[in-house]
Amino acid sequence: MIVTIDGTSASGKSTTAIKVAKRLGFVYIDTGAMYRAVAFYCVEKNIKLNDKEKVGKISNEVDIKFIFKNEVNHIYLNGRDITELIRAEEVGRAASLIATYKTVRINLVKKQREMGNKGDVVCEGRDIGTVVFKNADVKIYMDADTKERARRRYTELGKEGDFNMIMEAIRERDEQDKTRKESPLKVPDGAVIIDTTSLSIKEEVERVIEVVKTRKKKIKESNR
Ligand code: DC
Repeated sequence: MIVTIDGTSASGKSTTAIKVAKRLGFVYIDTGAMYRAVAFYCVEKNIKLNDKEKVGKISNEVDIKFIFKNEVNHIYLNGRDITELIRAEEVGRAASLIATYKTVRINLVKKQREMGNKGDVVCEGRDIGTVVFKNADVKIYMDADTKERARRRYTELGKEGDFNMIMEAIRERDEQDKTRKESPLKVPDGAVIIDTTSLSIKEEVERVIEVVKTRKKKIKESNR
């Protein structure tokens, strides 16, 4: 079974996806981390982010792997654990930019499909239900009020930095992700929309599990 979770930045999708995967015993695929990994490689090696050809080539050459251990989904880039390093704001911004490049998307989508087709997965990102796994059994789209998302990011950053600037960065990220030509973020056909503004993580997880259970029941009935 393939469960896709798409949505805006800081809408709660990663935290929910990881918990849902654990509850179901499914593999979790964090596709945003893959775009971040390619962006991180470029930033660290001082590769010009606007060199589409070079960045595209890198996205094909790098080896990206996930290993779930000690409750954390670790990401390895060419064998090196970069789990913490990719969370920097600079890497997030760079990821959003290189994610607009067609070649980067083609290469990473290929890797995502290879990972997903191995079995039961919860795959999370921006284009999973619309492009990567169009025929997924369950599609979820998560969103929340911009101010609430900024509040979550601000808390995540240890209440450091300027709240209004964080909110502005989220608005910019939304704009870039929703208006890009290649696979823009949008609600996938047939997706269940969950507004997480006033939901706790526990409630978000329960909602997704409910949708999965209902879908499983329907599949079972139609197979009878
Ligand atoms: O979910 P995240 O913040 O880790 O994602 C980082 C960036 O990667 C995000 O701004 C858009 C891009 N992304 C994408 O274009 N497609 C995906 N499936 C996942 C992420």
